[in-house]
Amino acid sequence: MTLPLGNSVRNRDQKESNMHDEDFLFLARLARRMGGLALNDGKGAKLEERLKPLAQRFGLRDGAALVAQLRLGHEALAGAVLEALTVSETSFFRDAAMFARLRDEILPALMAARSGKRRLRIWSAGCASGQEVWLLAILLDALPLQGWTVDLIGTDLSGASIRRAEAGLYSQFEVMRGLSEEDVARYFAPQEQGFLVSERLKHMVRFRVFNLLDSFGWLDDLDLVLCRNVLMHFDRSQRLSVLERLADVLTPDGVLVLGETENVQPLMSLYQDMPDQRMSGALGFYARARSLRSRASARRSDAPQTVRSSSCVSRAAAVSAKMRG
Ligand SMILES: C[S@@+](CC[C@H](N)C(=O)[O-])C[C@H]1O[C@@H](n2cnc3c(N)ncnc32)[C@H](O)[C@@H]1O
Repeated sequence: MTLPLGNSVRNRDQKESNMHDEDFLFLARLARRMGGLALNDGKGAKLEERLKPLAQRFGLRDGAALVAQLRLGHEALAGAVLEALTVSETSFFRDAAMFARLRDEILPALMAARSGKRRLRIWSAGCASGQEVWLLAILLDALPLQGWTVDLIGTDLSGASIRRAEAGLYSQFEVMRGLSEEDVARYFAPQEQGFLVSERLKHMVRFRVFNLLDSFGWLDDLDLVLCRNVLMHFDRSQRLSVLERLADVLTPDGVLVLGETENVQPLMSLYQDMPDQRMSGALGFYARARSLRSRASARRSDAPQTVRSSSCVSRAAAVSAKMRG
């Protein structure tokens, strides 16, 4: 799937535009290389429109001037362009059936299998402004996890999204869009500007800026990974690379949850579909394949063989949120 960016890469409709086809193709390559994103080749005019505020922010005349700066290696601008090109739509209970399945089936099974070690590691990859992660924290808070060590980590490429997630302040519209009144009363404090996540939940969660193209490093031994509605915007080869590396960092019985319109194909040698026994409509659940083939034999010829250099996030950044005891 490609990002819905606009009209024509040839930009014929935009008579006053100074941008050339090569500029749009440069932007598409930059988005793919830096963020794995697939920009739709046929949609350039809206792309320029979308970058206009950014050009202004950086004191640049127009899209052409912006691309000229990018070509000179303006790193801060490149990061900002990438953020501007991502789709950050999210909400509390974006997919109620999925969260119900986590609560009723997946988390209890993971806990039963870890009753000895009493440790759970959960990663929400591409968590946008954090609603998904707070919701996971609410689910975990209702489980008998006294004395357990639970790592609940939310990451996103976008620094602005992570800052919002960390702040945990949401408008009335946002909290009402999916949360029950009881949960709002229990886990949020009303403020002038909206509703603030309680300290009780804040102790359970850590957020980090992290690009999925970077080395996963400390993101290892994960029991549950949510990577929902992220890879659908990726270029195919980068999507396969991320899926392959996610299989690698899951524990042997770990579970990957994708968005309901996403799947792990064609990497079915790395994952096993987890059919929805209750027919609740909760799709996108995958277990790591029991016998993972060796990486060399499993790697498809079209999946990229390399990942970007190690992330600035170090293993030391992994955080243990000791929950209630
Ligand atoms: C549509 S939102 C999905 C949010 C949430 N997972 C959900 O399903 O509600 C996609 C998120 O993926 C993030 N993203 C895009 N490319 C990324 C990358 N290369 N690394 C990390 N996050 C990325 C975007 O910044 C955006 O916040």
